Amino acid sequence: MAAVDIPALGHAADSHGDPDASYLIAKRGIWSWVTTLDHKRIGLMYLAVTSTAFLAGGIFALLVRLELFSRGKTIVDAETYNRLFTLHGATMVFLFIIPSIPGALGNFFLPIMIGAKDVAFPRLNLMSLYIYMIGAVILLVTVAQAAGVPQFTSPLDDSPLEIKSLPGEKMTDAVQTFYDTGDDPYKSDAQALSEGKELYDTYCQACHLPDGSGRIGPSLIDDTHRYPRVTTDKGMFEIVYGGATGAMQPMGKRLTQDQILRIIAYVRSLKK
Ligand code: HEC
Repeated sequence: MAAVDIPALGHAADSHGDPDASYLIAKRGIWSWVTTLDHKRIGLMYLAVTSTAFLAGGIFALLVRLELFSRGKTIVDAETYNRLFTLHGATMVFLFIIPSIPGALGNFFLPIMIGAKDVAFPRLNLMSLYIYMIGAVILLVTVAQAAGVPQFTSPLDDSPLEIKSLPGEKMTDAVQTFYDTGDDPYKSDAQALSEGKELYDTYCQACHLPDGSGRIGPSLIDDTHRYPRVTTDKGMFEIVYGGATGAMQPMGKRLTQDQILRIIAYVRSLKK
């Protein structure tokens, strides 16, 4: 029986009617690759992008191993370490192993092995590659963005401290700066300091005394610390927001984050 000539979409479509032209050179230029419907070209593009993902996943793994080279911090903090670990796993599984076998090998070899001209739905085949690439970019961007938001932890057990806005609480520039840098920008703001004093006198001085020297609560102005993290603004924020043992209640339920930053700035000013 004579072979039926099926109008070709993929490979032959790229070779301008010359069925013997190699898929690599039948058409030239970047554009002919990004819009190709040829299963072999799509397979090679999968090979390129999944190999890139493999390389990235490998670099994340190397950074993880490098961090574990010595005790304590070697190159990255605990936060970043966790992020790298997650990135390594997610990249290797979802961006490399799962798509590489069917995407690269399956696309390239399967139609040849079964004697088909191309895969069914070659446009869908190409679209799947682009959806994969968009997904990969979203994954990396979201993880990188999350790196900008500090992870607060409870001073008592280091469990994650969830920061919730009070009803009607607005994000202020100071809070944003604090999130970005971990530094309380109100320390050099006279207006904020005087508001911080009022808040301190209302909420804190009963236990820590007006000069911060401490009574029920410990001194806030000497160099002995109940919690070592109190020396950083982020650490003090965690203690004030989330509370500590005994009488030191979580203030996050009563004060906005902006107010807490004003109080912290004032407490810092007491020390000098
Ligand atoms: C009802 C008493 C009380 C009030 C009010 C109070 N604290 Fe405390 N505070 C304590 C106690 C008690 C501790 C020690 C907690 C512990 O050892 O776990 C403490 C600990 C702290 C620490 C940690 C000090 C260190 O050396 O590690 C900081 C910082 C602090 N308080 C700030 C504040 C601020 C700011 C306010 C006002 C918003 C405030 N506290 C209000 C009782 C209080």
